[in-house]
Amino acid sequence: MSTPRSQVSQLSEIPEYELDVTMRRVLIPADELAARVRELGREISDTYRGSVPLLVSVLKGGVVFLTDLMRAVTIPHHIDFLQLSSYAGGTMSSGTVRLLSDLGTNIGGRDVLIVEDIVDTGLTLRYLLKQLEIRQPRSLRVCTLLNKQSARQVDVSLDFVGFDIPNEFVVGYGLDYEEKYRNLPYIGVLDL
Ligand code: PRP
Repeated sequence: MSTPRSQVSQLSEIPEYELDVTMRRVLIPADELAARVRELGREISDTYRGSVPLLVSVLKGGVVFLTDLMRAVTIPHHIDFLQLSSYAGGTMSSGTVRLLSDLGTNIGGRDVLIVEDIVDTGLTLRYLLKQLEIRQPRSLRVCTLLNKQSARQVDVSLDFVGFDIPNEFVVGYGLDYEEKYRNLPYIGVLDL
């Protein structure tokens, strides 16, 4: 028996996500994220045309953004991952950044683009820039989906920014609270 048309259209809609906390509001809906990621993909492609850049995703939060962004980047490129942690699942930065796992790629002489989900205090990014600069890439730039400028504790320079956001704790699209809600297709503010 074939599926009725009405059910087919429902299947392509965003499913209802089950939360065990209250979502105060959606800050950036899924369609706005998708549109901005496409624009960033174009900007990045224009910047690196003629090179094969290495997109470095910072796990775990950055992985959702990277997988969408890389499909919006239309020039050939490589990807790699490293894992850092400073929040240990909570809402406050511990202030101490730890390298949990390193890149598999030698970045010496490469055009490297760090792909972050969010720059908040800036401590994670400052640590990462220091770690990667030592390895002498040809260029080192930063793309972040979200920039929480008002929470900044150290100065870091950003080359591509998706959205400037207010100083609120956000989840979704890779960002977690106690390791949960990374699966949400939008950026939301929890009622904690
Ligand atoms: C988050 C996020 C950034 C960092 C930004 O990672 O993914 O890497 O915090 O915060 P900062 O600017 O205040 O340093 P987190 O340590 O929570 O790890 P996760 O990506 O595994 O969730």
